[in-house]
Amino acid sequence: MRTGRFITLLSLSSISLLGVVSAKSGFGEACDQSNTHLDANTYNLITDCDSTTYCASNGTCAYKGCRKDIYPFGYSDYAFDQLPPLCPQGQFCPDEGDQCMDQVPVGGSCQKDRDNECALADNYKDLAGFLNTNGSICLNFTCYYANVTLGQTCVTDNTAYTAYLDSGAPYAFIVSRDNCANGMYCDGTALQCMKTKRQGEACSGNKECSTYNCGDDGKCGKAADDPIHPGAWQYVLVGLGIVILIGGVMTGLWFAHRRSRNENQIKLEQYYNEQIAYRQSIMSMSHAKNSLLSLPPNTSPDIARSSLYRDDSGWTSATNDELLPPNVRRDSTSGWSDGDGPSRERIERVDSDALLMHPHAHANYRESRYMDAPEPRGGYRE
Ligand SMILES: *[C@@H]1O[C@H](CO)[C@@H](O)[C@H](O)[C@H]1NC(C)=O
Ligand SMILES: *[C@@H]1O[C@H](CO)[C@@H](O)[C@H](O)[C@H]1NC(C)=O
Ligand SMILES: *[C@@H]1O[C@H](CO)[C@@H](O)[C@H](O)[C@H]1NC(C)=O
Ligand SMILES: *[C@@H]1O[C@H](CO)[C@@H](O)[C@H](O)[C@H]1NC(C)=O
Repeated sequence: MRTGRFITLLSLSSISLLGVVSAKSGFGEACDQSNTHLDANTYNLITDCDSTTYCASNGTCAYKGCRKDIYPFGYSDYAFDQLPPLCPQGQFCPDEGDQCMDQVPVGGSCQKDRDNECALADNYKDLAGFLNTNGSICLNFTCYYANVTLGQTCVTDNTAYTAYLDSGAPYAFIVSRDNCANGMYCDGTALQCMKTKRQGEACSGNKECSTYNCGDDGKCGKAADDPIHPGAWQYVLVGLGIVILIGGVMTGLWFAHRRSRNENQIKLEQYYNEQIAYRQSIMSMSHAKNSLLSLPPNTSPDIARSSLYRDDSGWTSATNDELLPPNVRRDSTSGWSDGDGPSRERIERVDSDALLMHPHAHANYRESRYMDAPEPRGGYRE
């Protein structure tokens, strides 16, 4: 199988090499039809003319009148619609490419490996297989139908191509073709059609195997185009791998995000606490000034001073109707609450500027509860 591709490469490179090395005649230049022959190694047709012309009978190179391949060799400078035409059904373009000719009946002569030069059998759809062309085959330059059945005498055509090892040593690569029907091969010594062998059976050539692949171990191997069938456990393993990978990425992102979220939360809380403390200080100062100014006239400085500094808990005394306890530091999310759940009143207070000083704090201060919204345990109780 591998060597087959190697031979294709080999023949392609030798064609291009020949095109460069020996200068070929162009259109109108002289040529000799007796020089037309098959290459000994590659079985390509060699003529005196270049790849777009053929050697006509009057001894000059003329433009080709047909092509056998959809994309013929040597026409890279031509647009697709400038190529010589393909031949219609029932005709073929010979290797020279001079003009289309009618297909040859069984027994007629054909060019090397040009199965499509042979006419179709009436039951060509039954005979068609991957080793022939529509049930016809060209063996030893003669047309046959690939219709010989089991045990019948068959014709075989062995072609030895010269192939080269990696070391450069040449060896013969033999391609054997025959006119046995599908599912059979022509045995080289008995010259009779035999059933092709299944995978694992001993073989001596590719054609003996139904997979057309006789391995180096002398047994029929897998077909070259046999797809690989992965086991069910491989699907499960790949699926699990994908799920675990996605899960790992998600979890990692979740942890990373939670961490940065917590850091931001702490920063925000610190910022708000600073702001509130600052505001408290200003309000306390303002309040102290008002208290001093609202004392009755002729109040001695000592009494005035004692109205500010008391010996008990001072600002937090609930018995003082005039001086409300200043708010303590609190979280951005906390607020005054009279009840356990968030009430409308509480929300209003939270939204209000005046919430730092509870309007009814002196009346129901004991029932009030300084609540920290996310963690009630962290709140302050009177
Ligand atoms: C030779 O034959 C070809 C094809 O028939 C033709 O195109 C060409 O003009 C001929 N050349 C001469 C010199 O007669
Ligand atoms: C082989 O048969 C198919 C279908 O009938 C047809 O299209 C194709 O041209 C045939 N090939 C040759 C070389 O005659
Ligand atoms: C090929 O055909 C020629 C006659 O055309 C014949 O002499 C020769 O023996 C054949 N070769 C094989 C291998 O059948
Ligand atoms: C195969 O085709 C040839 C040519 O038509 C015919 O002579 C021969 O009897 C056929 N063989 C079988 C087994 O059908």
